[in-house]
Amino acid sequence: MDEADDPPERTGDSTAPTDGPALAVRGLTKRYGDTVALDEVDLAVDDGEFVAVVGPSGCGKSTLLRVLTGLEERFEGRAAVDGVDVRDGGSDAVGMVFQEPRLLAWADVRENVAVGLPADVDPGDPAARDRVDGLIETVGLDGFAESRPGELSGGMAQRVSLARGLAYEPEVLLLDEPFSALDQLTKYEQQDNLLDVWRERGATVALVTHDVEEAAYLADRVVVLGGQPGTVETVVDVEADRPRERTDEALLTARREITDALGV
Ligand SMILES: Nc1ncnc2c1ncn2[C@@H]1O[C@H](COP(=O)(O)OP(=O)(O)OP(=O)(O)O)[C@@H](O)[C@H]1O
Ligand SMILES: [Mg+2]
Repeated sequence: MDEADDPPERTGDSTAPTDGPALAVRGLTKRYGDTVALDEVDLAVDDGEFVAVVGPSGCGKSTLLRVLTGLEERFEGRAAVDGVDVRDGGSDAVGMVFQEPRLLAWADVRENVAVGLPADVDPGDPAARDRVDGLIETVGLDGFAESRPGELSGGMAQRVSLARGLAYEPEVLLLDEPFSALDQLTKYEQQDNLLDVWRERGATVALVTHDVEEAAYLADRVVVLGGQPGTVETVVDVEADRPRERTDEALLTARREITDALGV
């Protein structure tokens, strides 16, 4: 991570992806007025890799994802997704699940998930409808397709948001604490669903979490941010074979390394 590849220089077509890491961040500094949210952060995530980002509240985890999604225009340094510099509008290949569900209050669950379908997919198309209903089932919300956000619990709304993010089928999936409102059993189920999606699609995933156990179970590498301002404290390699057992000794070792780095 300390040796993050530079986002590749591009010539010609400004949105054409180039070879290189799926996520490339170099010298990223983000300020909000006098607040330095991120300070000289370097990060490179390979194609198909699963990376988790942990760190104390306010250390800049959401800010990092927002930069990568192209939602933050003013920052220093460079950030690229799938070889496309975020300053050039970012990559179409990226999908994001936000920390707050951000659902459309007047639309039902099915319509909210369908919002995530790619622009060229007609939501009225039977295949698209099947895809949406399949995702609703995957996140454990069958029977709620016609419910509105106001009728859902926080954990249910979070799962609608997750299904909406998956509907896009992005090559690079950015997830900001997607399971934080879930009970333990549902959380375990959704973590395993996410691993299935990651494996089946060969997607690249960057997942922000406060849950050290979750980070170690899911990720190939765990980036520990310290802060504020957010800087990369250390990167922990999780050396457990997949599929993983939650009780694997290697996961416990990784968890210890992460909590040590967090100073817990
Ligand atoms: N829009 C904004 N305007 C001003 N300051 C902001 C804004 N967004 C974030 N910040 C500040 O930037 C810092 C990092 O915020 P960020 O939301 O990225 O933290 P985080 O690591 O995601 O925290 P949490 O774990 O609580 O979600 C914080 O000090 C926050 O107050
Ligand atoms: Mg956050």
